[in-house]
Amino acid sequence: MKIRLAQYMGFCYGVKRAVELAVNSGGGVTLGPLIHNPQMVSRLARQGVGVVNDLEEVEAGTVIIRSHGEGPAVYERARAKQLNLVDATCPHVKKAQQAARKLTEADRQVVILGEKNHPEVKSILAWAGDDAIVVETADEVRALPYIAHLGVVVQTTFSRSLFEELISLLQNKTDDLAVERTICTATDQRQQSAIELAKQSEVMVVVGGKNSGNTTRLASVCEQAGARVYHIETAAELRPEWFQGVQTAGITAGASTPDWIIEEVYHTMEEMNMGNQESVKLETGMIV
Ligand code: F3S
Repeated sequence: MKIRLAQYMGFCYGVKRAVELAVNSGGGVTLGPLIHNPQMVSRLARQGVGVVNDLEEVEAGTVIIRSHGEGPAVYERARAKQLNLVDATCPHVKKAQQAARKLTEADRQVVILGEKNHPEVKSILAWAGDDAIVVETADEVRALPYIAHLGVVVQTTFSRSLFEELISLLQNKTDDLAVERTICTATDQRQQSAIELAKQSEVMVVVGGKNSGNTTRLASVCEQAGARVYHIETAAELRPEWFQGVQTAGITAGASTPDWIIEEVYHTMEEMNMGNQESVKLETGMIV
């Protein structure tokens, strides 16, 4: 069996940076779990970085803002409580927040293209102000009234094809449209390399938190590309029977899956394959 790794997989730039900032913070708490990976969250807890769900739970010490970002009120409350704030907001998310704020200040009606309940979208909305609107489907865009001066910001992990579709619909809703293209390439790259690999593999192992949206999306694009897919969180879940009679297997991992978990999966699959032809590591996962 040949085992191949996707060219782009695992931690994106923003998640890697957030984990490094948390590890180097010298202990503290993150506002919400730092990433959607239970193994990494437990490892951080052992290193003295816990989780709270609200700033009200913290009276002193260090609070880490995760890569999804937070609205201005959180910064103000942290300042008022004299907490030590470590801001791990991904710079791409920061850019989207600032773009939303600028469009509002330029007296445009801000429309955010994104998932309403996603923490990143909530943070962009908080910077945009009370009048901003979040839409995520073509029907929602069609239901919008005419808007004289429209400004659009996009969730960094939004689908590029849906973005293009919604922008062309929004063009019919205004005569003055400003678009901030704030989609980050990391998600696209991970999905494209997963699809390429899945097309050449009988079995795809997708590694990442069961609660991670981007990992679940990777599993579904691999399935659509025709591979038999197993979504696992750790190497302990691998079963030798999955690979019986299989010639080609691929591995990919979500943006919140740490390298050590991917390596464990790769080595466990190699061991299961021991004495059974070669294992070829064609490409290595890259961090963007
Ligand atoms: Fe940042 Fe893009 Fe990752 S926005 S957190 S680098 S997916």
